[in-house]
Amino acid sequence: MARALALMVCLLGLVLSTQVATSEARAFFVFGDSLVDNGNNDYLATTARADNPPYGIDYPTHRPTGRFSNGLNIPDIISENMGTEPTLPYLAPELTGQKLLVGANFASAGIGILNDTGIQFLNIIRISKQLEYFQQYQQRVTTLIGAAQTQRLVNQALVLITLGGNDFVNNYYLVPYSARSRQFSLPDYVRYLIPEYSKILARLYELGARRVLVTGTGPMGCVPAELAMRSRNGQCDPELQRASALFNPQLVQMLGQLNNQFGSNVFISANAFNMHMDFISNPGAFGFVTSKVACCGQGPYNGLGLCTALSNLCADRSKYAFWDPFHPSESASRIIVRQFMTGTTEYMHPMNLSTILQMDNY
Ligand SMILES: *[C@@H]1O[C@H](CO)[C@@H](O)[C@H](O)[C@H]1NC(C)=O
Ligand SMILES: *[C@@H]1O[C@H](CO)[C@@H](O)[C@H](O)[C@H]1NC(C)=O
Repeated sequence: MARALALMVCLLGLVLSTQVATSEARAFFVFGDSLVDNGNNDYLATTARADNPPYGIDYPTHRPTGRFSNGLNIPDIISENMGTEPTLPYLAPELTGQKLLVGANFASAGIGILNDTGIQFLNIIRISKQLEYFQQYQQRVTTLIGAAQTQRLVNQALVLITLGGNDFVNNYYLVPYSARSRQFSLPDYVRYLIPEYSKILARLYELGARRVLVTGTGPMGCVPAELAMRSRNGQCDPELQRASALFNPQLVQMLGQLNNQFGSNVFISANAFNMHMDFISNPGAFGFVTSKVACCGQGPYNGLGLCTALSNLCADRSKYAFWDPFHPSESASRIIVRQFMTGTTEYMHPMNLSTILQMDNY
């Protein structure tokens, strides 16, 4: 009898300690576009999906997962650095029960700040819908651990949002004389995008997010797709570079305003432009043979069309900065996440992720 009781106490202790451990691991939520989508689009009727080989060729399963990468993508590597399992796509049927407490990835390839961005991809999860799903997620977690614990989980979580690139490459510059480019000059378009983005981020705050990494756009004019379509001699396209140069500083300024409004450094800007430019301007220093030619693709710079089983494929993916015409290889993503973790204020403003993880260590 006494031994049975001791055993029960022991088991109870075990249950309690696992519960504490679960509730203290930091959850991770991801919003945005194909740079961070880890498979949601595979569940949708859209053309914007990475569900065919050779996508995933260097993933542990060596199979396509919906990530626009040869292997892991940026959110996976952030999870790795936090010591947590990668988040599941929100639409994945296996995202139930305790797995919900790890967080979720709501991102969807092709989307942008604006609702009309990515319309050519048909059925994708626009950002307002991603935020609705975040709300639905919280209702589901509430049935599991209660409202107070759910709020705590969300408040203490790390959030990543990557948006904006598609509003240029898949909207304003998608075709010559696009509707948006007839409506706005480039500087006016950027001035239109920024307040729209600000509303999205304010909504994310309203939904409980308190630590949000916000990436600016990378050097859009330097991706193999743009080198193939818009560049004369392999130089980064100046027009798309100008779009980044206008958008990024205004984004940083807007994040500063939101932080002032909320009285805390909720929003951290990640300078994706600088992070990419380092290895684009000096690929050799980072172990790459090229930063112009995509590993998988066809045409000049392997920059035309999609990466498919029929495309050219490089032998050593780790030697290429770009995996496909638009997206970094896993190796490049690792260089980017290293800057997320330990970069100076030129890369991470006002602080880097290793500082955040230490500060928020409850
Ligand atoms: C985008 O669509 C959503 C859902 O229909 C709507 O709530 C939102 O206001 C729209 N955004 C813009 C900028 O029109
Ligand atoms: C970034 O991380 C490094 C390493 O942890 C740290 O020494 C440095 O002070 C951090 N910089 C900022 C601005 O937070």
